[in-house]
Amino acid sequence: MVKMMSVCAMGAVAAAGCSCDRAAKDFGTTKYGEAAHLYVLEGKGGLKMEVTDYGGRVNRLWVPDAKGELVDVTIGFDSPAGWETTDSYFGAIIGRYGNRIANGTFTLEGKTYTLAQNDADHHANLHGGKRGWDGYVWDAKPFTKGDDVGIVFSRVSPDGEEGFPGTVKATVTYTITPENVWRIEYEGTTDKTTPLNMTQHVYFNLDGSDTILDQELQIAASKYSPVNADLAPVGPAADVAGTPFDFRTFQVIGARIDDPDTVLQYGPGYDHNWVLDGAGFRKVAEMRGKTRAMEVWTDQIGLQFYAGNFIKDSWKMKDARPMKRRGYLALETQHFPNTPNRPDFPTTNLKPGETYRTVTEYRFKTR
Ligand code: BGC
Repeated sequence: MVKMMSVCAMGAVAAAGCSCDRAAKDFGTTKYGEAAHLYVLEGKGGLKMEVTDYGGRVNRLWVPDAKGELVDVTIGFDSPAGWETTDSYFGAIIGRYGNRIANGTFTLEGKTYTLAQNDADHHANLHGGKRGWDGYVWDAKPFTKGDDVGIVFSRVSPDGEEGFPGTVKATVTYTITPENVWRIEYEGTTDKTTPLNMTQHVYFNLDGSDTILDQELQIAASKYSPVNADLAPVGPAADVAGTPFDFRTFQVIGARIDDPDTVLQYGPGYDHNWVLDGAGFRKVAEMRGKTRAMEVWTDQIGLQFYAGNFIKDSWKMKDARPMKRRGYLALETQHFPNTPNRPDFPTTNLKPGETYRTVTEYRFKTR
């Protein structure tokens, strides 16, 4: 709070085009000893986000329905300790590598790299390692551009961080538009070839209820990636037709989530990569609650639909709200899991001189 007053008084943030309510508020200290802050981005259409520079995590996301009633549709906490004692990825920027690298190892340009197997149950490196990009306080710059409001997060990931090669300079820009779109633009450069597969691990429950099982989902994908018990893709992509992975038309999420299908049971439940149809920036998915809906648009080729199977009923979130297994889901746009070990998958390698760029939008609407 003190920081908010002083930032406004000094005009430092205001000079960059930000109003006082988007100046930083203190949000305590992370377990790594860094000071975290909260920012509020309020769109002209009613969509409103509270976000922290600690991993770029979305902490609150208020979405209006047709009556203008705002519901906070995401998981968040009252302090950094909330993530540190539950699942650190809730709402966070994920890097360098979204999802799993099998056995925490890969070979690149003839050299073998060994990463932490921080997802021990699945013998994998998950979401960047022990201290992934979610574990850092990022440089944060709120902005206003026409009718849009937003924030630019940036950080430099040093050569060798978590075992990955090359210094990566990463920028992630969140923009809230008057049409109630949350746009996420990712950019990265490197000085040595490295795998880079960034994503955002926000969770949604469009009713703000304690289950997503009665909400509906559609995914424009004719194929998905079958996995083994370690949740690593095996073999080529498989047809969704005739399986519980077929979301080409709207399906109630809970209808088939406990189907005995072996690959689904490895989740257990949905925790898989969908190979998205089409190419370029396009609509790839839509989620429907009772009075709110959300479209997912992206230029990415894959979508990890994770149904919150590992969320524990005992975890507590902000405002003493309950958290339940399968109470929230994540729709993570990215390249396919374990690509560094799958030369048959579209590459995730970024080379010096190239710029990694990808865009995803979550577009909220009423129904
Ligand atoms: C993974 C899940 C994991 C979750 C962690 C998802 O992207 O696929 O297996 O439990 O992230 O929050």
